[in-house]
Amino acid sequence: MTNPPGFGSGSRLTFMSPLSDRRADRLAAELAAHEPATVFDIGCGWGELLLRVLDAAPRARGIGVDAFGPDVERARGNAADRGLADRVTFLEGQAKDHLSAADLVINSGAYQAFGSIPDALRAIRPLVNPGGRVLFACEIWDRTPTAEELAEMWPGTTTDTCLHLPDLVDQAVAAGFRPLNVEMSTRGEWDWFEAGFAASSEEWLLANGDHDEADALRARLDAQRRRWLRGSRDTMGYAYLTLGVPTHPTAI
Ligand SMILES: C[S@@+](CC[C@H](N)C(=O)[O-])C[C@H]1O[C@@H](n2cnc3c(N)ncnc32)[C@H](O)[C@@H]1O
Repeated sequence: MTNPPGFGSGSRLTFMSPLSDRRADRLAAELAAHEPATVFDIGCGWGELLLRVLDAAPRARGIGVDAFGPDVERARGNAADRGLADRVTFLEGQAKDHLSAADLVINSGAYQAFGSIPDALRAIRPLVNPGGRVLFACEIWDRTPTAEELAEMWPGTTTDTCLHLPDLVDQAVAAGFRPLNVEMSTRGEWDWFEAGFAASSEEWLLANGDHDEADALRARLDAQRRRWLRGSRDTMGYAYLTLGVPTHPTAI
């Protein structure tokens, strides 16, 4: 009898965020077209987006940092498999301990590394070289959740946890960026992500229902599904902002 896979290990996912292959490849191509020499991905997970940017920008070098060791190991393995290991370094640790400046900074689904969303935008701004770009992606409210929906979400979620899209873009501008592109994940990307997050655990449960850990895993999966289908699905979106900073350090 096998032990359950790590809950939410993402083993069935391409990205640890609601991002399709198609959007990822287009974003990577657009970001690479600006010819960054250096790319820094903060909270990179297993680094899939960073690797796609490096594939599309053959002269660029990258650094990814993430606090979760197994994802960093997966990133290193993927880089080696794709012949990119000599152009990318994956660091395990707290983002704040490994900050470095770059022509392109990526922060997708990992604003928590700095606190709130506005905190993250303010912290990222000085890391971007003059004329550089940022891909900043995070959860937003599609509509303000009801008290009942909030109660179904992650413990501690409040209406202040996310911003609405116009407020997010205003926060980015207030932090010293100009918005070059604003786009949102589709519901299909969200559903694919949420179902993919649970998939390996659900399949293990079907095959191992009499395992000692089965009841605990079933309860966790049920809670996770409730959080998604009764809490976030109709209220939460995910925004991708491509942001620019001035070529010369003048006020904008
Ligand atoms: C939702 S995942 C997104 C991963 C990746 N950016 C992607 O889109 O596939 C958030 C990631 O941020 C990382 N993270 C959260 N807080 C962090 C911190 N303080 N320092 C470094 N990484 C952090 C987590 O370990 C996790 O891998």
